[in-house]
Amino acid sequence: MAKTDSRVTIHMAVSLDGFVARKDGSVDWLETKDEFVEGATLDPEFVAAFLKTIDCYVMGSRTYETALRFESQGFGWAYGDKPSFVLTTRELPRTRNTVEFYSGDLAQFVNERLRPTFRTIWFVGGGVVSGECMRLGLADEVCYSILPILIGDGIPFIDKLDRDVALHLAEVKAYKSGMVELRYEVRR
Ligand SMILES: NC(=O)c1ccc[n+]([C@@H]2O[C@H](COP(=O)([O-])OP(=O)(O)OC[C@H]3O[C@@H](n4cnc5c(N)ncnc54)[C@H](OP(=O)(O)O)[C@@H]3O)[C@@H](O)[C@H]2O)c1
Repeated sequence: MAKTDSRVTIHMAVSLDGFVARKDGSVDWLETKDEFVEGATLDPEFVAAFLKTIDCYVMGSRTYETALRFESQGFGWAYGDKPSFVLTTRELPRTRNTVEFYSGDLAQFVNERLRPTFRTIWFVGGGVVSGECMRLGLADEVCYSILPILIGDGIPFIDKLDRDVALHLAEVKAYKSGMVELRYEVRR
């Protein structure tokens, strides 16, 4: 039985033109320099408290490989000590006990394995996995953090969506860094 109050959220940082990475997978553009004077400040204590509310992460293998690369460059592991489920058909290095690999039917995995155990389930990319999640009707909400930059081309936030998905705008926040965070609930 699924936890009735479990929630699947897709969250990524995007360029204003809707990309989560360049075509070659690079995310150098995430470091933007802007100032929106009236924006809110991202308080590290608030961020830490917020991250505690996330029960587990789900990501595609290419996102995992980016996270491993960042870690090897000294930027740390982005997903703390939370269970992190990596979708892959390949044999990838398992660098910590919190990482688990899965291959196969994503709907079955989310509904039968994750929802009964975790309340707050975060899909953190990339575009292929977000597309799969959305096409299968698994997402309850979408968090879209827009950075103040256009990059022209790249990997889309949601890859290969095959229909319209109606959303309800639930929250808007603008930050001093020029980032705008939009939270939408998926209309059923
Ligand atoms: N801006 C942001 O916030 C943000 C966030 C996340 C990622 N990114 C960027 O996005 C890029 C990666 O995105 P992407 O769309 O190319 O790839 P992705 O979604 O991270 O990974 C896709 C891969 O996951 C595996 N997969 C997906 N569904 C599966 C299933 N049901 N069973 C088994 N394996 C499955 C497949 O890999 P296998 O070949 O291993 O089977 C597939 O090629 C990276 O450059 C990353 O840095 C950006």
